[in-house]
Amino acid sequence: MRVYNFSPGPSMLPLPALEKAAKEMTDTNGTGQSVMEMSHRSKDFKPIIEKTEALLRELMGIPANYKVLFLQGGASLQFSMVPLNLAAGDAPGKGKKAAYIDTGIWSDKAIKEAGKYATVEVLASSKDKAYTYIPDAPKPSEDHAYYHITQNNTIVGTKWDKVPDTGSVTLVSDASSNILSEPLDVSKYGIIYAGAQKNLGPAGTTLVIIREDLIGRAPAWTPVMLRYDTHAGEGSMYNTPPCYGIYIIGLVLDWLKQLGGLNAVAKMNREKAELFYNYLDNSKMFYSPVDKKYRSLMNIPFVPREKDEAKKSEIEARFVKEAATAGLINLAGHRLVGGMRASIYNAMPIEGVKALIDFMKKFES
Ligand SMILES: Cc1ncc(COP(=O)(O)O)c(C=O)c1O
Repeated sequence: MRVYNFSPGPSMLPLPALEKAAKEMTDTNGTGQSVMEMSHRSKDFKPIIEKTEALLRELMGIPANYKVLFLQGGASLQFSMVPLNLAAGDAPGKGKKAAYIDTGIWSDKAIKEAGKYATVEVLASSKDKAYTYIPDAPKPSEDHAYYHITQNNTIVGTKWDKVPDTGSVTLVSDASSNILSEPLDVSKYGIIYAGAQKNLGPAGTTLVIIREDLIGRAPAWTPVMLRYDTHAGEGSMYNTPPCYGIYIIGLVLDWLKQLGGLNAVAKMNREKAELFYNYLDNSKMFYSPVDKKYRSLMNIPFVPREKDEAKKSEIEARFVKEAATAGLINLAGHRLVGGMRASIYNAMPIEGVKALIDFMKKFES
């Protein structure tokens, strides 16, 4: 029996994609091999990576002047690659100015890493209220090399309600936990990056969508594997790409296209999230700590209303344990913030959200 997995990532993948992969495991497209066994430069793998890229371009409406890169190292490596490629100077530590908005733990990590290569200016932060809102985004100055946001904050459950106006300054977005969850105007961004392990596919592949004029700006001392031009110049095949992950992303995109694309999935995501927030807003036992205006569609933290810390911890532990027994797994909040969190990415069916609400109602009573 499959469980409903509310993990923030790696998380649920669409069953049709998994079943197709299982069917093709030992013989893909009549080649007599698994994708895991194929040479990445073979005529067998070429159509697989080309299909994945073409489908992604179609579904996201990626303009022709953007490259799609399938890299490794997770979104965390992009915390280094972005400043290295867009703001690093002639020597480490002599970088250009870069603007960051601090909306949570992942932003903070990106900021700390960028500080090694760029002169980071944090233009706004929501740390004063435990990151439960998105701060107003001040305009950057002309000499900022780029402007970085974390579009959906996986741990605290907030998302930007609009794209900030950065004027002529390049906008860079960590879209790890909102990619493909709703339509997004790629042309407003210079770089969009995302680890695959939420809405795209298995962990191990990192997606980078980058406007072509931003490629080739890294200083000479940048390690070859950390330069966008290295990967863009070789169609993500400077070295061996994460072939199996790219194949699974292709199957996930097939599923998404069949559903009706990003408009259709966004509608489903809104329905799921509204259902759950609506339940939380009326619950006597739990509540959502996030400012309503900035609530994430993908990650929904919730905490007991109980004030007594010991009793609260007891409720949380019991909740997570009993939910798992009921087939609703990975509901504990992030280890740094505690509480509970339901991550309801694209592949979580509405039945899963309904099952969680039913469980919570019983738990309450
Ligand atoms: C918004 C965001 N950024 C970055 C990361 C780090 O991603 P990775 O583990 O792929 O390095 C995560 C992981 O959950 C995330 O949610």
